[in-house]
Amino acid sequence: MDLIVSPREMQDLARQWRREGRIIAFVPTMGYFHPGHLSLMEYGRTRGDRLVVSLFVNPTQFGPSEDLDRYPRDLARDTELARQVGVDVLYTPTAAEMYPPGYQTYVTVEELSRGWCGASRPGHFRGVATVVLKLFHQVQPQVAVFGEKDYQQLALIRRLVRDLDLEVEVVGRPIVREPDGLAMSSRNSYLSPEERARALCLYRGLCAARDLAATGERRAAPLVAAAREIITATPGTRLDYLGLVDPDTLEAVEVLKGAARLLGAVWVGSTRLIDNLLLKESP
Ligand code: PAF
Repeated sequence: MDLIVSPREMQDLARQWRREGRIIAFVPTMGYFHPGHLSLMEYGRTRGDRLVVSLFVNPTQFGPSEDLDRYPRDLARDTELARQVGVDVLYTPTAAEMYPPGYQTYVTVEELSRGWCGASRPGHFRGVATVVLKLFHQVQPQVAVFGEKDYQQLALIRRLVRDLDLEVEVVGRPIVREPDGLAMSSRNSYLSPEERARALCLYRGLCAARDLAATGERRAAPLVAAAREIITATPGTRLDYLGLVDPDTLEAVEVLKGAARLLGAVWVGSTRLIDNLLLKESP
């Protein structure tokens, strides 16, 4: 496995692979790998004959009072895990090279950035869209793989690719969960044992809504209320949002028709966690 830091070097190698007719699969990450990341890499391995994983804790997607400085990092461990999965290039650009002095160009996916996580994290999705577009130019993938845990991010990147005519297939992959159901996240490492137990309320809430939908309930209000009840009954947590949404536009739906995503975000102590579940209309 090669380690590349320089965007120019990454782009030159990607160009060479393209000339040779290689298919480049790409998994963008912020590192501190867990089995969710590894599942994206394993899938990427099956989709390309070259696999690039980027590891970049992107400062432009963190707000001033967010966790950029304390975001967990372990490059040595990540390098070893990436090697074991069979990654060809671990690409770790620096912030100084990604955003050199004078940098001033940003991309905004207008409507998809506004609600849900966008409402509590102003500027977050502008940072995500910008860095993903830059990474796509540097890595030049034909296939890019993202986790469904960051569902709004996935929808927004699909929109970015369509709107800017990028020739990249965006693939969303299922959430990988702990045995008790908690969605895997690098931020779970912030949780104390007590908070870890409380954090499960988000998944349990989403499941309560899914179970209610399975009984034939199609109205969004009772479905969301079923999830809210479990979360708000859990001490030490604060609900950020819950919404039953159209899977593509992320607009709130009032009635479940076919399938919809139930999105949620919860504060557990000072850690903000997100999760989502597919809800299907019961026949
Ligand atoms: O999902 C993430 O880890 C990040 O938002 C991404 C897509 C790597 C962009 O920094």
